Amino acid sequence: MKKVYKAHIIYTKEHNRFEVLENGYVAVDDKGRVIKVSSDLSVLGCEDAEIIDFGDSLLFPAMNDMHVHAPQYRNTGIAMDLELLPWLQDYTYPEEIKYADATYARRMYSRFLRDLWRCGTMRACVFATSHTENTRLLMRLFQETGMGAFVGKVGMNRNCPEELTEPVGEMVRGYESLIAEFNQSEALVRPIITPRFVPSCTSEMLQACGELAVKHQLPVQSHLSENKNEIAWVQSLEKNSTCYGDAYDRYGLFGQTPTVMAHCVYTEGEELELMKQRGVMVAHCPTSNLNIATGGIAPVRQFLEEGVLVGLGSDISGGHDLSIFRVMVYAIQMSKMYAFHHPERPFLTLAEAFWMATKAAGSFFGRVGSFEPGYEFDALVIDDHDLNHDQYPLLHRLERYIYLGDDRQIKHRFCRGKEITEMCITSMLL
Ligand code: GUN
Ligand code: FE
Repeated sequence: MKKVYKAHIIYTKEHNRFEVLENGYVAVDDKGRVIKVSSDLSVLGCEDAEIIDFGDSLLFPAMNDMHVHAPQYRNTGIAMDLELLPWLQDYTYPEEIKYADATYARRMYSRFLRDLWRCGTMRACVFATSHTENTRLLMRLFQETGMGAFVGKVGMNRNCPEELTEPVGEMVRGYESLIAEFNQSEALVRPIITPRFVPSCTSEMLQACGELAVKHQLPVQSHLSENKNEIAWVQSLEKNSTCYGDAYDRYGLFGQTPTVMAHCVYTEGEELELMKQRGVMVAHCPTSNLNIATGGIAPVRQFLEEGVLVGLGSDISGGHDLSIFRVMVYAIQMSKMYAFHHPERPFLTLAEAFWMATKAAGSFFGRVGSFEPGYEFDALVIDDHDLNHDQYPLLHRLERYIYLGDDRQIKHRFCRGKEITEMCITSMLL
């Protein structure tokens, strides 16, 4: 059954410009795809459709989180005095070890999913842990919610605690069993090949990950050029590689299939050129870069100018806030600091940050993140009257929501045309 939603509609087709339809209509087909958006109901050709009127609310594409560690959720907001490598050893790995216990994993993952839903994030690229069964559990829980995700069992076999280490053959078998269960085309929840980062994967592990990705045509996610100590470590471990990105590329993990790399704070020169050539997406994680003392700011303006796609990531628990709206604000603020030191690189606009969180990131999942015809209807309905005492223009209402709003103003959430209600989430919690 077709549906037509009426509200103030905002989305981006291009990176630097909003499309705004005051009292507009969006028609959605029975597969959950946008048929058309218009201010004029009669041009939609949907006389037979049910019309749902959201009145004075804002309606815009839902958020996509391009980099988040579900099993680090309990660590959010602690150990922020540490730099990346000690932070991993002392806090992150010990927490991930606990996920061998299915009861613990279910309890924590349920909280994570409830809060992801609360924040209005309908799709995510997620790291689980190296445990196969706990990754399966997270994928099944995602399926129960109706939200979309790429979920990765994390490849690790060196420089980490034994409890998280897995022989290469076992890693491959674990992946094969997840792929057999979840790799259906059109499925909302699918596997993604996830070597943690070069220091935690031997050449054999990286090789096996690359082969899995190509064999099953699966996407890839990992970390890249986040921290100077990390980069120096990679250089000493992979002596033949010409840059960090090249250390993935040699194993078929750098754009041979769709690839998203978190951070890229120090990506430049050859590495940037390679990302461009291979269409590798950046998951920009500004909160994480501030917290775990990356010491730099990712050159996002340059990425955009060079045509490298950039999405946003919360990077829980390097990042402290699961809300992609908050991450947008940090991305803008950080780019302003960057622009002080690089006046030739203007700071990010609100439209650009919004586009990164919606259409740019969404492209990793298919036709997601816009309301152009054929896009999957992933959307949020925002009743901002408690934030909006004056009659502001619609884009100021959106901006205020992004800067100040939270889950209290989100009245409806849709993923691929289906409303994801609180019931969908609480039933998973049982
Ligand atoms: N590099 C390797 N593992 C991690 C992780 O869990 N978080 C972050 N931010 N960087 C990493
Ligand atoms: Fe991360």
